[in-house]
Amino acid sequence: MALKILSVVGARPNFIKIAAICEAIKGINSLGAAEQIHHVLVHTGQHYDSNMSDSFFNDLELPKPDLCLGVGSASHSIQTARIMERFESVVQNEQPDVVLVVGDVNSTAACALVAKKTWCRGNRGAKGFIPKLAHVEAGLRSFDRTMPEELNRIVTDCVSDYLFTTEKSANQNLRREGIPAGRIFFVGNVMIDTLLRHRSKAQESTILQDLQLLGRDGIKSYAVLTLHKPPNVDDKQVLSRILDAFLDISKRIPVIFPAHPRTFKRIQDEDLGDYFVDHFVQGPEPWDSRVRIRLVPPLGYLDFLHLMSGARVVLTDSGGIQEETTILGVPCITLRDSTERPVTLEHGTNVLVGSDPEKIIREFGRVHCNERKSDRSPRFWDGNAAKRIIKVLVDDFSPE
Ligand code: UD1
Repeated sequence: MALKILSVVGARPNFIKIAAICEAIKGINSLGAAEQIHHVLVHTGQHYDSNMSDSFFNDLELPKPDLCLGVGSASHSIQTARIMERFESVVQNEQPDVVLVVGDVNSTAACALVAKKTWCRGNRGAKGFIPKLAHVEAGLRSFDRTMPEELNRIVTDCVSDYLFTTEKSANQNLRREGIPAGRIFFVGNVMIDTLLRHRSKAQESTILQDLQLLGRDGIKSYAVLTLHKPPNVDDKQVLSRILDAFLDISKRIPVIFPAHPRTFKRIQDEDLGDYFVDHFVQGPEPWDSRVRIRLVPPLGYLDFLHLMSGARVVLTDSGGIQEETTILGVPCITLRDSTERPVTLEHGTNVLVGSDPEKIIREFGRVHCNERKSDRSPRFWDGNAAKRIIKVLVDDFSPE
């Protein structure tokens, strides 16, 4: 019987990771084996705005989801509960061999729990079965349990049957937590699979022209900023202090800020608009008389990849961007006190500064004056992680 994999996506970073999985499944199926992998894609609807979701499906050429749960935004508990409630019948109806979840968002943990609590009464004998659970990007730990993502990671890893890891530290974390070695597979990074696959296509993006970042002498020096983690944006004092630092930086080079909807809402609610110029409404010029952070809407995958690739520095609190800048060789200043991705500090261009404005400005000064560091790829960040994952699953489900 053909292997049936049901993959879950919910939030923006999930789409990027699942794109690699879809590609790997397509690749295997195109070899023409009699037993084709049956892939079902479920979108929980955690992210639903067109620039947070649809544009990623287009850019990444993702297949249309087979099922959309339409959960939308709510508090963490309500959002998680809604996903669980709606996902249960999906598992019962689809009866997949494997439920595959990625990353650390609420959709990941919610669907992981449901997968392992749902008894499927299929045509596999009277006893029925519980699907196997595969977690892609398992074992990452920031050791900061105030982060919802950390709880989502721990919960998901606890109940997973296949734990696919991106870096050695993740294997060590899982072993320390008592996960048997036989369940852990060090396969590399699917987010990097997608980056490498789309890197040349992203160069066709016109985002640098659109943002007037191409001068007569080539690309201007600019910084890219992303910010959305609750500890950085939920408290007005903290957010204002961070924005003060960026305002300072924007006196030296343009700071482009594709704002996440939750951050944009905070800026509006707290009346912090004076820090910004809305690039597409007010225009970027003149530089000298109106120095502000340049606010733009959330960008699609290809535009953002191109923007990030040409940046002098990226300032962020995102997890995935720490990894992407590592491969791009672009300096990354992370506005957090911890990272669950230590390989980006050891091998990459990443440095942690927290939310202290002085540290942010000091680190920016250091990066701005120094030459770019060369990029050194962590092991298995080579474009083949998803193929390794699918191979493990196919081999495990193949008849002897
Ligand atoms: C989620 C993930 C985070 C990930 C981020 C990437 C969790 C716990 N967090 O955070 O790990 O880094 O996605 O973007 O799952 N909103 C919209 N439109 C959308 C989506 C969200 O306006 O399409 C707004 C809503 O006001 C919502 C808020 O953003 O309440 C938060 O969205 P949510 O998905 O709950 O968490 P994120 O902050 O996006």
